[in-house]
Amino acid sequence: MSTPSLLILPGDGIGPEVMLEVRKIIDWLSNHRSISFEVSEDLVGGAAYDAHGVPLHDATMAKALSVDAVLLGAVGGPKYDNLDFSVKPERGLLRLRKEMDLFANLRPAQCFDALADFSSLKRDLVAGLDIMIVRELTSGSYFGEPRGIFKEGNERVGINTHRYTESEIARVARAAFELARRRSNRVCSMEKANVMEAGVLWRDVVNEVHQAEYSNVELSHMYADNGAMQLVRAPKQFDVILTDNLFGDILSDCAAMLTGSLGMLPSASLGSPMDNGRPKALYEPVHGSAPDITGQGKANPSACILILRNGSPLFV
Ligand code: IPM
Ligand code: MG
Repeated sequence: MSTPSLLILPGDGIGPEVMLEVRKIIDWLSNHRSISFEVSEDLVGGAAYDAHGVPLHDATMAKALSVDAVLLGAVGGPKYDNLDFSVKPERGLLRLRKEMDLFANLRPAQCFDALADFSSLKRDLVAGLDIMIVRELTSGSYFGEPRGIFKEGNERVGINTHRYTESEIARVARAAFELARRRSNRVCSMEKANVMEAGVLWRDVVNEVHQAEYSNVELSHMYADNGAMQLVRAPKQFDVILTDNLFGDILSDCAAMLTGSLGMLPSASLGSPMDNGRPKALYEPVHGSAPDITGQGKANPSACILILRNGSPLFV
């Protein structure tokens, strides 16, 4: 087998310092375990904007498409808050997700026993917690058209479109069912079918995929607002949570915070299998760029390091 290639994109804030620790583990693996990677590094987010005037250079995008996996630190920071929307650091990450077609974002919320007392919930509610949120990542409100700020009469109107096709829903549902089979075999799908047509379609398609291909997996449905409430009421009731891009963004932050430390959580964004049978993949910590502690040697690099852990549920 040829040496797997990794593109490291440290990004902004604490991204570079946590990635430095990842580089040490990569070197250790190569020196002590004969596990080698062909590593390259490039810029994303504000760092890319500073160098090139765009949050992701075309050459970096091309590199990301050609490697076996991308490891990303974090993007964004107060310095870039007033930039035009089209060149904000976050756009670099969204472009990577879209062009690599990383439709399944796996966000585990696992509570390490030693950290259970740091959770904002009582220990017995979170000790042993092990949830996997599967968030759709390349469609929905963050990508739907039309979008923009338009003039309507004498006022402005802000528009985003929440749009999902059947095939977009079906492929991420399959990812959730496949994961559930390797865990506790339960999927809870969350949307707002009570008020959104796209939610009605989401529920229909999830049911169809379930009936046709995964009827031996236990499936339930929940409105996303109730899901948020249940996550802080009794989080251990969940195994795999399947949800869309917008709700997944919110619910995964909520779930992650239950574990006592965001710094311990890795995440994977996966696409369809390539010719070698492995999906296109981008791995990143769940935490953000944390400008308040940048450069102080305080950032916990565990999430980034756990990305590399052998046998991790993120390696599918
Ligand atoms: C996340 C982040 C991103 C998102 C930002 C940085 C674009 O909040 O990965 O959850 O909104 O998806
Ligand atoms: Mg988020």
